[in-house]
Amino acid sequence: PTLDIVVLPGDGIGPEVTDEAVRVLDWFVTHRAVPLRMTRHLFGSAAWAAERTAMPDRTWAAIMAGDAILFGATGSLDQTHIPPEERRKGALLTMRRALDVFANLRPVKAQPALAEASPFKARTVAGADLVFVRELTAGVYFGTPRGIETLPDGTRRGVNTHAYTDAEIARAARFAFQLARTRRNHVTSVDKANVMEAGRLWRDVVSQVHAAEFPDVTLEHMLADNCALQLGRAPTRFDVIVTDNLFGDLLSDCAGAINGSLGMLPSAALSAPDADGRRRALYEPIHGSAPDIAGKGIANPLGAILSAAMLLRWTARLPAEADRLEAAVASALDAGARTADIAMPGEAVLSTRAMADAVIAALDAG
Ligand code: NAI
Ligand code: MG
Repeated sequence: PTLDIVVLPGDGIGPEVTDEAVRVLDWFVTHRAVPLRMTRHLFGSAAWAAERTAMPDRTWAAIMAGDAILFGATGSLDQTHIPPEERRKGALLTMRRALDVFANLRPVKAQPALAEASPFKARTVAGADLVFVRELTAGVYFGTPRGIETLPDGTRRGVNTHAYTDAEIARAARFAFQLARTRRNHVTSVDKANVMEAGRLWRDVVSQVHAAEFPDVTLEHMLADNCALQLGRAPTRFDVIVTDNLFGDLLSDCAGAINGSLGMLPSAALSAPDADGRRRALYEPIHGSAPDIAGKGIANPLGAILSAAMLLRWTARLPAEADRLEAAVASALDAGARTADIAMPGEAVLSTRAMADAVIAALDAG
């Protein structure tokens, strides 16, 4: 059966990089008979501008009926003209929660071609190959009570609640251990068990799940502040890092530095599998709408294209095709293809479109 992919290009460079990811997926439809149908829908500020709603009913219906979302980026310079209620409807957090995509995979893999280029010697760590499993639908971004309250004496107090249930921790842990079995069999669980109650529970539940179900996987616990240091100092020591929503957000951006450019990092957010093993899924580059370079055709499309590779792996369940696409990206970089964010002085700089062309040429050649 054909898989329905709901394409939400979003704002800023979102549409620019998403167009290229769709073009690459079209290559797989045409040349490898991968059964995908991509349909673009309005979302967020683009939808507000066109239809005065941030989440049109048509978009939501397509998301609920579809097999996966391919997302660009959200965030226009000024959203203050959009009513708060509409902004919430069109927020990425709302969508993640509604789809219950609790497992956020963020692979960080050094590209050998960039490890050798001089400006990246210090920034791209050769051999680094790790993946975050960030818990995405609970923790401090969602806990209640929340809000800004005014106390009787006029003092204002901003409140968020950092809360996790054992079930929320256990399913993230299980996902990480299962993933580690397909990689180097090593999990680092990151928390602040020394000072946070939810962190204490996190450590306890991860240890329990490990002992009961995954004793063959090596597990280490690490405090989040130390993890930030180790990511900078020795990123090759990590395989799978499982952590909560907040720490996963911060630490995966830190790890982005290993890779040389934010523009090359993909992600997938996945739900639990249904009876047929199908997961709801949202694929997106980890970067935002990059208003500083939007509209110029110079954004790096590789984060979006590698997110399409994750779609081939997790939604189409075609690991060989996903490997083929990742190899094509590496081979385009080997051949010297560079967008502005990863170019050395004096190197030819490609547009967004031309970078995707280089990947497609590598697919044709492979
Ligand atoms: P950003 O990721 O948009 O940009 C940070 C820096 O990285 C900028 O200098 C940008 O030019 C550069 N950059 C990002 N992607 C690139 C690419 N593909 N190629 C080359 N350079 C690239 O983060 P920023 O500036 O903090 O946020 C801008 C907007 O994006 C805000 O409205 C923010 O809320 C939103 N945002 C949305 C996200 C999402 O949709 N998932 C994630 C992060 C931010
Ligand atoms: Mg972030």
